[in-house]
Amino acid sequence: MPTLVNELELPELDAQRIGAGPDARDVLADLAEQSWLVRNPFGYVLTRHEDSVAALRDHRWHQASRLLAQMNNITDERFLRRQQRPSILSAEGEEHQRLRRLVSPAFTPRSADRLRPFMRQVINGLLDPLVADGRCEFVADVCEPYPIPIICELLGAPKEDWKQFSEWATTIFQIFSDQLPHHVAEVCDASEALDAYVSELIETRRGDPRDDLLSDLIAAEEEGERLSNAELVMLVEAVILAGTDTTRNQLACALAVFADNPDQWVMLAEQPDLAARATEESFRYLGAVRGTGRFASEDISYRDVVFPAGTLLFPSFIAANHDGAVFDNPMLFDIETERSGASHLTLGFGLHYCLGANLARAELQEALAVLAKRMPNLRLDGEISWKPAGVGIWGPASLPLAFDPS
Ligand code: HEM
Repeated sequence: MPTLVNELELPELDAQRIGAGPDARDVLADLAEQSWLVRNPFGYVLTRHEDSVAALRDHRWHQASRLLAQMNNITDERFLRRQQRPSILSAEGEEHQRLRRLVSPAFTPRSADRLRPFMRQVINGLLDPLVADGRCEFVADVCEPYPIPIICELLGAPKEDWKQFSEWATTIFQIFSDQLPHHVAEVCDASEALDAYVSELIETRRGDPRDDLLSDLIAAEEEGERLSNAELVMLVEAVILAGTDTTRNQLACALAVFADNPDQWVMLAEQPDLAARATEESFRYLGAVRGTGRFASEDISYRDVVFPAGTLLFPSFIAANHDGAVFDNPMLFDIETERSGASHLTLGFGLHYCLGANLARAELQEALAVLAKRMPNLRLDGEISWKPAGVGIWGPASLPLAFDPS
C-alpha cells in the first residue's frame, strides 16, 4: 500500500548545515546513507543518483523555476509578469520539444569544436599579462572574463559589451538564490535592460544576416513555423545568461580542486589529452550547479510513495555525483582512471539536459589544457572565499592562486 510522502519519517536537510565551502558533499553523503529521500523546507531532496535520474527523465515532474515567485512569496507585479513569459527551462511537453528541436542544431559537438581555436586565443590572452607575475586572483582575472567573448562570438554579439553581459548574468541569476526576495527590483531592472538590448540586436540582425547563432535562430524554421519574437528574445537571453555564469563558476571550482591536488595538475600538464576526463571529473567532484527543482504536475507514485500534485522535489547533484553505488571511490578526485558507467549530473539529465553541454565541455577542456601548461606548480596563495551555499550557481567568490612565473 503506497504511503503519502508527508507521512514518511525522513531525515531533514538543515540548510544551516550546508556551509559555504565544498563540505556540502559530506553532509549530503551522510544523509544519503540514512535515506534516499530527505525533507527540506520546500519539499523533498533526492540523495541517490538512480532516483535523481528517474525523476529527471519522468515527464510528470515539471521544471520548478516557474514556481520561484510562489516559493519565495513574491508578489511584485513586474516579477510575476516576467514569470509568465516563455522560457525554455520552464517549458514542458510539446512546447519544450519544439523549442529544443529548433535550437539543438546550433549546439552540436561540431559547432562547439569550431570555436575551440577562439577559446584557446581567449584563455591565452587572459593569461599573457599574468604569467610573469606568477600569481593572480583567478576568479576576477580569468573566470569572469573567459566565457563571454565566446558566447558573443557564438551569437554574433559585440564583444566590447562583455562587462555589461557579465553584470546582467550575475544580477539576473539571483532568481536562483535563497536571497531572491531582497533582489526582486534589481533582477527586474536588469532583465528589462537585457530585453531591450537583445531586441535591438535581433532587429539589427534581421536586415543583415551573418554566419552566427543569432542569424540561425532568426531563420530557424520548422515546417514553416518560425520562433516567435518573444521566443527568440528568450532563447538569446538564455544563451547569454546560462552560458556565462555557469562556465565561469565551473572553471573556478575546477582550479580550486586542482590546487588541492597538485599531482593531478602535473599529470594534466604532461598529458593534455586528459583534459576531457579532467573536465568530467571536475564537473563530478565539485559542480557549479549543485541540484535542481521539479514539481509534481499530477499525483506521482514512485517507490511505493505518493507525491501529491504540486509536491516540490530537488534532485541533489552533489549527492548523486558522490553516490558510491555509481562511482568507485567517489570522494577521490582522479582524472586518470576512466570512470565507468553513469555520468555525473552537473549538466542535468533527461528532458532539460543542458543545451550548451558541448560548448561548456569544450570551453573547460580548452581552458584546462592551456592553464595546466602555463600555470606550473599551482598552489593556493591565500584562503578561498566561497559563494554562499544558497546561490543557485556556485563556486569560489575569490581564488588567490600562485604558480611558477614564466
Ligand atoms: C559549466 C557550465 C554549465 C553547467 C554546469 C550547466 C548546467 C545546466 C543544468 C544542470 C541544466 C538543467 C537544469 C534542470 O534540469 O533543471 C542546464 C540547462 C540549460 N543550459 Fe546549461 N550549463 C552550463 C553551460 C551552459 C552553456 C554554455 C549554455 C549555452 C550556451 C547553457 C544553456 C542551457 C540552457 C538553454 C538550458 C535549458 C535547457 C532546457 O530546459 O531544455 N548552459 N544547464
